[in-house]
Amino acid sequence: MVAKIVVTQPVHAEQLQRLRDAGHEVVALDSPRGLSPEELVDAAADADALLSQLTDKLTGDVFARTRLTIVATIATGFDNIDVAAANTAKTIVTRTPDVLTDATADLAMTLMLSVARQIPRSDADTRAHGTGPFQLLREPMGIDISGATLGIVGLGRIGEALAHRAHFGFGMTIRYTARSSHPAAEERFGASRLPLGQLLAESDVVSLHAPLNDETRHLINRETLKLMKPTAILINTGRGPLVNEKDLAEALRSGEIAGAGLDVFENEPDVHPDLLAVGHRTVLTPHIGSATAKTRLAMTSLAVDNILAVLAGDPPLTPVG
Ligand code: DGY
Repeated sequence: MVAKIVVTQPVHAEQLQRLRDAGHEVVALDSPRGLSPEELVDAAADADALLSQLTDKLTGDVFARTRLTIVATIATGFDNIDVAAANTAKTIVTRTPDVLTDATADLAMTLMLSVARQIPRSDADTRAHGTGPFQLLREPMGIDISGATLGIVGLGRIGEALAHRAHFGFGMTIRYTARSSHPAAEERFGASRLPLGQLLAESDVVSLHAPLNDETRHLINRETLKLMKPTAILINTGRGPLVNEKDLAEALRSGEIAGAGLDVFENEPDVHPDLLAVGHRTVLTPHIGSATAKTRLAMTSLAVDNILAVLAGDPPLTPVG
């Protein structure tokens, strides 16, 4: 059958060609931003498949007012999709896990090192003033990552890939929180599972990898930030709303914690002005965890594989749930 596939935002052209080569009609909207529920309903009213991204708002209304067979999101996180409504509407939802694990864990490690060694500040100082003479007591003085304790909140694929890098590459001690214990990780990394409060209190670096849901929203807030060491660094490459940004900015401003490396924000595309004002104790990047050429292509390709499989009557490769 010839299916109609709506593509919400720009993706790799050769991947769209794969859909056309399979005989399908492709409507590429090329929106420069995510689509609202109303825009999605209009665009996908008579579509069979949607190739979407994490900024598209796939509410219950979208599923109730379309007849989509599949929504393939080019992301591993799916907090922008009302999966219960999709199930009711019998729309299959797929995502792109695994292919972005390494790139995202690499960025978490990069942010950790950048904050600890204040790389953006040193770069800016060097460009503005040159290196000056070597000075033993030159500021900014860094924080050691090697041998430090890393607390991982959510030991899924990305958390585990970070544990691997941190433990074997940097000799870090690994602590984690998770719903259930991970005996294999405990054996591999000597990791121990702790309640959140204890993990926050004992860690030199805390890295967030939990999915965003009602339980995890604002997991990091005024109260939980108080539990962290004044020398600690917070890293977030997961989802922005895991953190109350205003509370974090205040904790950074007052020296309650030492620094933060953030790739995701509570109200993307906006960044809380108080966080911007914190200056050199934060390193901010624009949601680029998976942004390597190879990884982004693999994500699009996997999403397209899912659409082709489902439209051919086969099971989805990487369904949500
Ligand atoms: C995801 O896949 O969920 C990331 O946030 C974007 O790569």
